[in-house]
Amino acid sequence: GAVGKDGYRHYMEKELHEHPLVIGQTLQRMIDPATRKVVLPDMPVDLATVPRAAITACGSAFYAGVVGRYWLEEIARLPVDIDVASEMRYRNPPLTPGSLGILISQSGETADTLAAMRSLKQAGLPILSILNAEHSSMARESDVVLGTVAGPEISVASTKAFTAQLTVLACLTIAIARARGTLDALGEEELVTALLDLPSKAAEVFTHGDAIRKMATIVAEARDVLYLGRGSGYPVAMEGALKLKEISYIHAEAYAAGEMKHGPISLIDRTVPIVATVPSGVLFDKTLSNLQEARARGGRLLAFTDDEGAERVSAIAEQTIVLPKVHPFVTPLIQTIGVQILAYETALLKGTDVDQPRNLAKSVTVE
Ligand code: AGP
Repeated sequence: GAVGKDGYRHYMEKELHEHPLVIGQTLQRMIDPATRKVVLPDMPVDLATVPRAAITACGSAFYAGVVGRYWLEEIARLPVDIDVASEMRYRNPPLTPGSLGILISQSGETADTLAAMRSLKQAGLPILSILNAEHSSMARESDVVLGTVAGPEISVASTKAFTAQLTVLACLTIAIARARGTLDALGEEELVTALLDLPSKAAEVFTHGDAIRKMATIVAEARDVLYLGRGSGYPVAMEGALKLKEISYIHAEAYAAGEMKHGPISLIDRTVPIVATVPSGVLFDKTLSNLQEARARGGRLLAFTDDEGAERVSAIAEQTIVLPKVHPFVTPLIQTIGVQILAYETALLKGTDVDQPRNLAKSVTVE
């Protein structure tokens, strides 16, 4: 039957609140509760020897793939090529025989992704799809499907499907790393524990609603906003910027924080707020010094960090949201919820049609 809003003002608000549930449901599907090991269905390639993966997707699903690349390369030592589907399809890239094609899509119907998938198949690659719609065109044409257990996503702006995609990619990374011998049993236990910790930590993000609303008052007045992050925080910045553009119609760009000095820093003044995702971890100091440079040029710094980074970030930022500290592996999921809520709150202030933004469709079935 029809999906209701359950008392929320918009589907997007309802779906944002479903993050903890959806992450938990997706983990239940992928982790055996008895052994606490990731369990995959039969794979069309030998994960121990697969030489490479080629990931393709569009929009938010593409950003999930970029996070996946950071994980697969760092943890599983698997080389990954990634491109948006509309480019991958016509670029005619030289694909390594025996590689695994990985498709990511909420709807399973996106025309560009479907076409890119067919071109990967034509090149002889077996296809693993990460899909929310398990009875879709992509599902039918894939060799194996890993389902995101996000339930129906009605809001045009994707929220819970994105974190569910990250959850699946995190589990896939663990399984591939185990097969390739880059992660031992102890290491797997540590990462699985980090994942199982997520639903409760994701729920905690919603206790920061007032602070994020306050941050939104600054963003809502801007014409342009810069989103910055490093490492797996860079695709989170891209996701935050896309969400803001989609539903508030404010121009936003994401940059890898270290790239600022190569150009975009010339944009910085009081009128261009900087939304930074800067969780504690190996890149914390580097990111902080990039942000300091931006602030020294008069930039207004709005930061998402965690308990461990709170003191040093709030010393330089105009506003700081202190999200719960989680294992560095899973910070992108927590930080994403923060930037998605910021986009939602900003759109409310702008009075836009949050669930049905102009010019956009939920599923883009034309090329
Ligand atoms: C995200 O908020 C978007 N509305 C959009 O970028 C979307 O992620 C993209 O069109 C891909 O859709 P799909 O996951 O259904 O393939």
